[in-house]
Amino acid sequence: MYKIAVLPGDGIGPEIVPEAVKVLEAVSRRVGIEFQFTEALVGGAAIDARGIALPPETLELCRQSDAVLLGAVGGPKWDTLPPAERPETAALLPLRKELGLYANLRPAFLYDSLVEASPLKKEIVTGTDLIIVRELTGGLYFGAKKREQTAEGEMAYDTMYYTRSEIERIVRLAFTIARQRRCHLTSVDKANVLTTSRLWRDTVEDIKGEFPEVTVEHMYVDNCAMQLVRRPAQFDVIVTENTFGDILSDQASVLTGSIGMLPSASIGGAVALYEPCHGSAPDIAGQQKANPLATILSAAMMLKYSFKMDQAAAAIEAAVGRVLAKGYRTPDLYVPGTQLVGTAEMGQLVRRELEEG
Ligand code: NAD
Ligand code: IPM
Ligand code: MN
Repeated sequence: MYKIAVLPGDGIGPEIVPEAVKVLEAVSRRVGIEFQFTEALVGGAAIDARGIALPPETLELCRQSDAVLLGAVGGPKWDTLPPAERPETAALLPLRKELGLYANLRPAFLYDSLVEASPLKKEIVTGTDLIIVRELTGGLYFGAKKREQTAEGEMAYDTMYYTRSEIERIVRLAFTIARQRRCHLTSVDKANVLTTSRLWRDTVEDIKGEFPEVTVEHMYVDNCAMQLVRRPAQFDVIVTENTFGDILSDQASVLTGSIGMLPSASIGGAVALYEPCHGSAPDIAGQQKANPLATILSAAMMLKYSFKMDQAAAAIEAAVGRVLAKGYRTPDLYVPGTQLVGTAEMGQLVRRELEEG
């Protein structure tokens, strides 16, 4: 029996997370392993109900669980709160930090039938199969920061800070992942300007000898942004610091058809957390328009990384592929000639494929 903490959060979170939970329930029936789901409040939903974005009982539940499934947090309602209170900085970042989740894996894989869904040309997106390994508990997000009045007027700063050991652990993990894939690692930095990037690059150079089967390339982040849309198939594993990884993964999502297709696993601590890469999508929340597949594929990552149920994970991915091949699409993936479905219907279609497949 595995204990799973379920944190739907805000916006589309409560629409997409139940679809992933039901997919896990279908897996549980199929393989005869029991999952015990316990729901908890996080983000704006927790602020509204409990007056605090990350209630201690939510953190405690996560610690006591075998894995965490999260929707998304944040939204216009809470945007004017000070950083110490708002969902992103007072719930999501502390949750990642407290659980020691220094590595965020964001695979961008293009399903064959979604070639037409991307705004990029078919010849360009074909062959997209990459994974961004994003450092998740350091960098600008967690460095010293301040905003204050000075004699010269208002000032603010955020600090980019990395230790060698923080870089070593994420880089080693990225090499290990590359070794299990196509053995090519692109380390992305801004070493022509940033000191942290120079430490990053030196660290990669020092470690690469441990992984002789992996070819390593260093790439500046601005070039990487360009290469991702110019020739995405050149990438296998990308390793980069927190902020660069955040931005590049949203960009990479477009290669797969939609940000609604990008799952993630945050690992490195005793309990891992699984969430889609996208946010709470306030513009479509409550309308059954959200694509639940990123969350469902995050649940597949949970099976793979937390429970070593690789076969069940692959079965979910294959079921998603068959639903898409049959032409079913949420609005974000819609092209003429396909069949428009809502959030819950998409979840149900995946479960039906899973049960039949
Ligand atoms: P967003 O990812 O929520 O939305 C960007 C665009 O993508 C919107 O047009 C949205 O409708 C669309 N989109 C996102 N997910 C989709 C899905 N599953 N299906 C279909 N369309 C989808 O980013 P944003 O608008 O910049 O941020 C909205 C809120 O979410 C903010 O409060 C932000 O801080 C928060 N956020 C949270 C997380 C997280 O919890 N991990 C991640 C990113 C943003
Ligand atoms: C993500 C989000 C978060 C991040 C925000 C909401 C703090 O954009 O998970 O990609 O920047 O990490
Ligand atoms: Mn992001």
